[in-house]
Amino acid sequence: MDETDSGRAIHGSAFLDGLFALNGRVAIVTGGSSGIGRAIAESLAQAGADVVVVARGEAALRETVDGIRAGGHRAAFVSADLGERAEVERAGDEAAAVFGEPDILVHAAGINLRPPLADLTVQDWDLTMALNLDAAFLLGQRFGPGMAERGWGRIITIGSQQSIRAFGNSGAYGVSKAAVAALARSQAEAWSARGVCCNAIAPGFVRTPLTEAVFTDPAREEALAARTMAGRNGQPADFMGVAIFLASDASAYVTGQLIFVDGGFSVF
Ligand SMILES: NC(=O)c1ccc[n+]([C@@H]2O[C@H](COP(=O)([O-])OP(=O)(O)OC[C@H]3O[C@@H](n4cnc5c(N)ncnc54)[C@H](OP(=O)(O)O)[C@@H]3O)[C@@H](O)[C@H]2O)c1
Repeated sequence: MDETDSGRAIHGSAFLDGLFALNGRVAIVTGGSSGIGRAIAESLAQAGADVVVVARGEAALRETVDGIRAGGHRAAFVSADLGERAEVERAGDEAAAVFGEPDILVHAAGINLRPPLADLTVQDWDLTMALNLDAAFLLGQRFGPGMAERGWGRIITIGSQQSIRAFGNSGAYGVSKAAVAALARSQAEAWSARGVCCNAIAPGFVRTPLTEAVFTDPAREEALAARTMAGRNGQPADFMGVAIFLASDASAYVTGQLIFVDGGFSVF
C-alpha cells in the first residue's frame, strides 16, 4: 500500500492503473494482424488504448479488429504495404485520422527472407530494409515530433536476437534488426527529454507464421527450446506484458533500450 501526499491510500488495481493503464491513449500497431504484433495490439486495447492495426491482408486485419471490438474496446485497421514509402505515408495519415494522432507507435511488421548471403539478391535486401527498417524510420519521423510537442509518447520497434548476433542465414534480416535497435537509440536521443520513450524489444524464437517453417522440424524446435533458460520457445502472448509496460507511464525512465524477451536465450 502507498500513501499519496493528500494521505489518500492508493493500492491494488488503482495503483496498477496509475502505472499501466492506457485509457485515453491512441496506439498504432503495424503488423498487428498476426503473431507478436497481434498479441501486442490486443494487449494495448485490453489495457485501455484505442488501437489501429496496419498490415496488408484485409481478412486477418478484420478478424483482429473484430476480436478486439468483441472485447468491448475501440479498434480499426488500415490496409497498406509498408514496404512502399508512399504507402507508409498514406497508412500513417489514415491511421491517425481514425482516433487522432497516436500516443503509442509499435512497428512490428517485418519479414525474414532466408537465402544464404551469397544467394541474397539486391531485391531481397531492398524489400527487407524497406519494411523492417525504413518503415520504422518513416513512421517515427511522422509521429515522433508530434509526440514530443505534446510531451508524451512511446515508440516501440521489434528487434531480434539478430540485433546483436548472427543466426542461421541472418543476411539482410540481421542487418535490419541491428539497425532498428540503433534507430531506437537515435529516436530516444532526439525525443526522450520531451517525454517520448523509444525502445526495441528483442524476441527469442517465437512460434508465428514467420517461423512456421522451422516449427515443422520437431528436432530443430526442441534444439532451439533447449538453448533457452526457460526451456521453451516463445509464444505471442509472452509479449503482452512488456508491450503494456513500454507503452505505459510505468516505463517513463526506460528509453533507448533493446529489451530481450527470450526466456534467457541471449545470455545462455
Ligand atoms: N517470430 C519470431 O521468432 C521473431 C523473432 C524475432 C523478431 N521477430 C520480429 O517480430 C515481428 C513480428 O513477427 P511475427 O513473428 O509476429 O511475424 P508474423 O506473424 O508473420 O507477422 C508479420 C506481420 O507483418 C505484416 N506485414 C508483413 N509484410 C508487410 C508489409 N509489406 N506491409 C505491411 N505489413 C506487413 C503481416 O501482415 P500481412 O502479411 O498481411 O501484411 C503481419 O501482420 C517482426 O518484426 C519480426 O521480425 C519475430
